[in-house]
Amino acid sequence: MSDFMEELRLRTERINEDLSTFLPEEEGPQRTILTACNYSVENGGKRLRPIFMECTYELFGGREREKLLPLMAAIEMIHSSSLVHDDLPCMDNDELRRGKPSTWAKFGVDMGTLCGDALMIYAFETAFKSKLEPDILSRAVRLLAEKSGIYGMIGGQTVDVELTGSIPDPDTLRFIYEKKTAALIEAALMMGALASGADEKGVSLMEEAGRDIGMAFQIRDDILDVTSTAEKLGKSVHADDRNAKVTWVTFYGLEQAEEDVRSFTERAVSAVSLISQQSFLEELIRSLVDRSF
Ligand code: IPE
Ligand code: IPE
Ligand code: MG
Ligand code: MG
Ligand code: MG
Repeated sequence: MSDFMEELRLRTERINEDLSTFLPEEEGPQRTILTACNYSVENGGKRLRPIFMECTYELFGGREREKLLPLMAAIEMIHSSSLVHDDLPCMDNDELRRGKPSTWAKFGVDMGTLCGDALMIYAFETAFKSKLEPDILSRAVRLLAEKSGIYGMIGGQTVDVELTGSIPDPDTLRFIYEKKTAALIEAALMMGALASGADEKGVSLMEEAGRDIGMAFQIRDDILDVTSTAEKLGKSVHADDRNAKVTWVTFYGLEQAEEDVRSFTERAVSAVSLISQQSFLEELIRSLVDRSF
């Protein structure tokens, strides 16, 4: 295993352990929803958003990881909530997620809906456990809200769902990708930079890098939906075709989509290398170009 892969494995393991310390106890009359929340977060995602946040924090010189941890946990909770809702029968209607029954398939549509809501709100409770300096913490949490909400991820999911079955124009297609997927990745990088005390210029450079990483990430997700297997991905394949979604692949073709993954990645790498050459963040971005899950 390469040094990079080994480090990624260790970082993933570490965030998995840390994340579990922020999850609620499964007790009380409402324990069904607590169990559903834990099931949805614990079931083995790649943890890329907290890892992006952590290594951007380090890139800008941050050294107090325990202060960042609640924010890392929070962004993974928001991301997990977006997957819980994305899989609902009224959205993408998927029964497989992270190699297991999706939350609604396991707990029912009612609990699946509540679980997505619960995780999204619990993420903010968790973020405020951070001991970062109050002004920095409030800016970071505000950013998380903006990038997750109506001007970010949920905004993108809205247009994605609304345009299902019709052909969007190129600007609208791009809007969907920048919001439903890139916005949270932008938040991860920007929050890492903010928490380490980076200036406005550094934070906005990370916003640009996050946007490009997110575009590459979602286009690769679309490619994998047509070229991979459910065993490898831990989620169903051909979901986009089944849901009559026009994706980057159906709109531009597989070859162009592959090329675009590369060019968005190169742009992100150039931005990051303005801060430092040969960082873990840069290696991580490059490693995602031809990820297979
Ligand atoms: C899946 O995200 C949803 C998209 C934005 C494409 P990930 O591929 O990061 O999912 P997990 O967290 O590893 O399951
Ligand atoms: C989802 O895009 C983006 C989210 C905000 C969850 P997809 O619908 O393509 O994600 P997958 O393929 O189900 O993970
Ligand atoms: Mg979707
Ligand atoms: Mg989906
Ligand atoms: Mg997909």
